[in-house]
Amino acid sequence: MLNFEFQNPTKIIFGKGQIAKLAKEVPENAHILLTYGGGSIKQNGIYEQVMVALGDRKVTEFGGIEPNPSYETLMQAVAIARNQSIDFVLAVGGGSVIDGTKFIVAAIGFEGEPWDILTKAIRTNTAVPFGTVLTLPATGSEMNSGAVITRKSTQEKLSMGGPGLFPKFSVLDPEVIKSIPVRQIKNGIVDAYTHVLEQYITYPVGAFLQDRIAESILQTLVQIAPRILENPSDYEAAANFMWSCTMALNGLIQKGVPSDWATHAIGHELTALYGIDHAMTLAIVFPHLYALKFEDKKEKLAQYGERVWGINEGTLEEKAQAAIEKTVEFLHNMGVKTRLSEYTEDYAKSATFIEARFNERGWKGLGERRDVTPEMVKEIVEKSY
Ligand code: NZQ
Ligand code: ZN
Repeated sequence: MLNFEFQNPTKIIFGKGQIAKLAKEVPENAHILLTYGGGSIKQNGIYEQVMVALGDRKVTEFGGIEPNPSYETLMQAVAIARNQSIDFVLAVGGGSVIDGTKFIVAAIGFEGEPWDILTKAIRTNTAVPFGTVLTLPATGSEMNSGAVITRKSTQEKLSMGGPGLFPKFSVLDPEVIKSIPVRQIKNGIVDAYTHVLEQYITYPVGAFLQDRIAESILQTLVQIAPRILENPSDYEAAANFMWSCTMALNGLIQKGVPSDWATHAIGHELTALYGIDHAMTLAIVFPHLYALKFEDKKEKLAQYGERVWGINEGTLEEKAQAAIEKTVEFLHNMGVKTRLSEYTEDYAKSATFIEARFNERGWKGLGERRDVTPEMVKEIVEKSY
């Protein structure tokens, strides 16, 4: 096991009816900026529950944070927050609203051009405090300190983070899942599943417990996927889905092990170029990354195949290969498409474009061994056509 430090300060308030607890968690005398997305919270009753819990507090609303939140939109919120001396931000939404809120709270007190936070990889150590009400399980943003922000004008999608960006608290009420469209539930399952794979399909370092926690999250997602897709009001499935997504990316399973994240880095480019939903870009990329890096990843792939999919026959290589195939079958059974050409007709330019971009950024090697070169990225994207 590798050395590590672990600290996660986010308080989780989990369960039915727990949005009412905002009354205790949000500071009473604060001027609050309430951030949300395209308006789903005003149709499914979540907005009302939040407003009742906030009571007489002074609230300024900022809606319209779009999926893959943009710098252009978020800077409007930063201006409002600065003008109105906002001292607490409450994000009510999915990963996009929560990520967007992380950018806002980091940018409010930032001197200089806030886009530099992303391009110059400036860590955020302190920020305006914020909490979240999660409406869509998927990203884990509700219990981590990362965010991914898009700049529309340049078609860039970049990550930021730092210890100042953990939410003070996150309310996780599985009943919010009832109103989520099937497309977004699929996204949530695939995103969380891939988060675990990114931190687990690398090479063995004798981290038995981390491996077994990772495997149990994968097994739980496999177990609940058909149930939650068939009936989003199935509370037991919803609760397990929600907690699995949070556990997949709250830092715990990443500690003491190598991690990959090449699938995400490539996937962000596909979203930036074509607007493909984040999770779907992962489904397009990882099978080809695993095929290309098969020799390096085969031990963990075989272990994953045995423990998650019950593949006990064959050589290590055969088990590893079968594990990739089983994963793709799992996606197909949910109706998830895994080829880039199934999402866009304009796919042919992507491989060379992404290769050039990674070269420009000086990203010489991605993945757990930092050896996935821009040239290999080109090959992976081409194979995904
Ligand atoms: O905008 P509204 O009207 O709220 O509708 C949203 C949006 O259209 C809708 N939705 C959310 N909750 C709902 C609901 N509709 C009905 N009922 C509800 N309860 O779902 C749509 C998608 O929402 P979005 O927040 O974009 O989805 P998701 O949570 O998948 O977030 C994706 C973003 O998170 C980033 C992605 O790159 C992408 O930008 N990620 C953030 C990570 C992190 N911070 O750690 C890690 C991830 O790997 C990921 O990169
Ligand atoms: Zn993701």
